[in-house]
Amino acid sequence: MNDYLETECVEKIKKECLLQVFDEIDSTNEYLKKLVKREAISLPLPVLVVAERQTAGKGTKGRKWVDSPTSLKFSLLISFAGESKRLALLSPYIALKLRKVLSAAAKKEVKIKWPNDLYCLEGKTAGILTEIIQKAGTLYLIIGVGINLASDPEVNRNINSLAGSLFKRIDPGELKRIRSLILLCASEEIIRTVKNLPEELSAEEIKDWNQSDVYNGQRLRLIEGERIVSEGQNVGIDKKGRILLQDGNQTKAFCIGEASLRP
Ligand code: BTN
Repeated sequence: MNDYLETECVEKIKKECLLQVFDEIDSTNEYLKKLVKREAISLPLPVLVVAERQTAGKGTKGRKWVDSPTSLKFSLLISFAGESKRLALLSPYIALKLRKVLSAAAKKEVKIKWPNDLYCLEGKTAGILTEIIQKAGTLYLIIGVGINLASDPEVNRNINSLAGSLFKRIDPGELKRIRSLILLCASEEIIRTVKNLPEELSAEEIKDWNQSDVYNGQRLRLIEGERIVSEGQNVGIDKKGRILLQDGNQTKAFCIGEASLRP
């Protein structure tokens, strides 16, 4: 084990998962995908993979996830025993739960952008990439999370939108403690969330989402590639995790797909 994480947190994480820490890797999601293809059945699950540097970090919709020395990058491999129809809620539900973990850690409000981005200090702070693999009758979930802990001007130079972060800056002597704690709390929360994944969001969870929505009440466009799929006022999400856009008298619900929301 290298010096990347605090021993106390590592010991706690190891009670729940098989932990692997890399100095450098292409992508923690890709690593786990290859692992599933090779030896899924004999693996003690969950497996948690953390990397200090990613050389080919993947985002959603084929985008890149830009690396930073002050970001936390990890992926969890978990087998899923629930009904597969519940997986429609997986990414937004993890975002909802992770939002709470990150708000508590940063002691400031982290917002949510449908379907599964987290915003803090005026920009995207964390992203989730979930991938599902079926092998020998078992469903394996790979849940990759990237969190910008401190702001890094290099990240802003490499993406077209403004990146956010949980903290403006972190004292170098504090970084290891903060990343270890966030990794411990986030991984525990994700494992719990997957085990208890509901079929539908409760009224309380919908309210929680809508109150934390970064674009709550705003007029938005739903965009797929260069094409505007729909436009309307964001009136929240429904129990299936679909975004509701209201245009005049009409309210349309959109599932998670290739489209993304823009103001
Ligand atoms: C997004 O586009 O918002 C999702 C970003 C997910 C990035 C994380 S970093 C750890 C894991 N490994 C990857 O290659 N991607 C995810």
